[in-house]
Amino acid sequence: MFRVGMLGWGAIGNVHGRVYKAMPDVKVVALADVEPDRRQKGAEFMEAEPYSSAEELIHNADVDMIDICLPTFLHSQYAVMAMEKGFHVLSEKPMALNYEQCTDMIEAQKKTGKSLMIGHCIRFWREYSYLKKVYSEKTFGNLQVLSLTRVGGLSTKSWRNWMLDPQLSGSQTVDRHIHDTDFVLYLLGKPNAVRTVGYVDQYGLSHVSTHYIYDNGPAVFAEGGGNIPVDYKFFMGFRAVFDDATVEFNRYNTPALCVYPWNGKPYEPDWKEPFSAEASSESTGLNITSLGAYYNEIRYFIDCIKAGKAPEVITPEEARDTLTIVLAEVESAYTKKTVDL
Ligand SMILES: NC(=O)c1ccc[n+]([C@@H]2O[C@H](COP(=O)([O-])OP(=O)(O)OC[C@H]3O[C@@H](n4cnc5c(N)ncnc54)[C@H](O)[C@@H]3O)[C@@H](O)[C@H]2O)c1
Repeated sequence: MFRVGMLGWGAIGNVHGRVYKAMPDVKVVALADVEPDRRQKGAEFMEAEPYSSAEELIHNADVDMIDICLPTFLHSQYAVMAMEKGFHVLSEKPMALNYEQCTDMIEAQKKTGKSLMIGHCIRFWREYSYLKKVYSEKTFGNLQVLSLTRVGGLSTKSWRNWMLDPQLSGSQTVDRHIHDTDFVLYLLGKPNAVRTVGYVDQYGLSHVSTHYIYDNGPAVFAEGGGNIPVDYKFFMGFRAVFDDATVEFNRYNTPALCVYPWNGKPYEPDWKEPFSAEASSESTGLNITSLGAYYNEIRYFIDCIKAGKAPEVITPEEARDTLTIVLAEVESAYTKKTVDL
């Protein structure tokens, strides 16, 4: 049995926990949360040994892998501690709050030889993996324009409201919009520059629109925001205009993923993501309706560990690049200038 120690039983911890429950060869044997009620609920649900802090679990639990579902400002220190103790680490996105913290994690990974993967789940998301495939295979010719959107209500439910403190979360741009920044990097590589406009409120840079500038590439832009009343229905999607067809993902359309060819009628592509998933339709309680991408991501990482292979879908260096790009977007919004990368 592959043994996991979970740090944090908040919003995403609950999702990861349900994923582990769906894996017959994996068992969460230890779970840490500083809040007694969450710790108790999580430990009962997972039938795991409860620990009152991340340190206590890392120093005392007998596990193969640590899964970090803690607020972003805690990722780096516990990832380093866990790798130094001899454990593989899956840590949620964003990798950390700054370049130096990311580098500490990368150096610990290199020094210990343990596996480290950051949970950039959009790379494992069914509709985005379809876009990656048709782009890579040039199914519809060249990509002309890519537009991505991710907007939702204010994050009011985080532990001690850490997500609303830009010192702790980096703001909604760093926390939420980073998903699309990461996908742009995954699909097209590093842009030459970014130009961002945005809105700053008491929670930091809460809403942005970025142009990712590729000197010889498609026109790429993304909107991301969280300064919206909480009842707003979370929206994420993309529109990719190729020479021969446009591919759109709009979670409120039927079908949600649709191809609009110049020649022929719109159709829903027959597409199953390439990762080892039997996606669950269980509701996660987050702004999303499926465990699919989270299942795919975690399954992929554990399968890599079991096979003794370094994960390739998202490397620690790429996760640091994603943070570097999103921090350049923040700089661009504040300075009102294009930032070269
Ligand atoms: N991939 C995704 O789609 C996705 C979605 C949501 C959140 N996230 C990321 O996951 C991370 C956690 O976010 P969240 O929304 O679950 O936060 P949250 O506030 O809901 O949960 C954090 C949990 O950590 C616990 N905690 C805090 N300090 C601790 C410590 N020292 N030791 C043990 N437990 C401690 C808190 O009590 C809380 O239960 C963030 O980095 C966030 O960006 C990713």
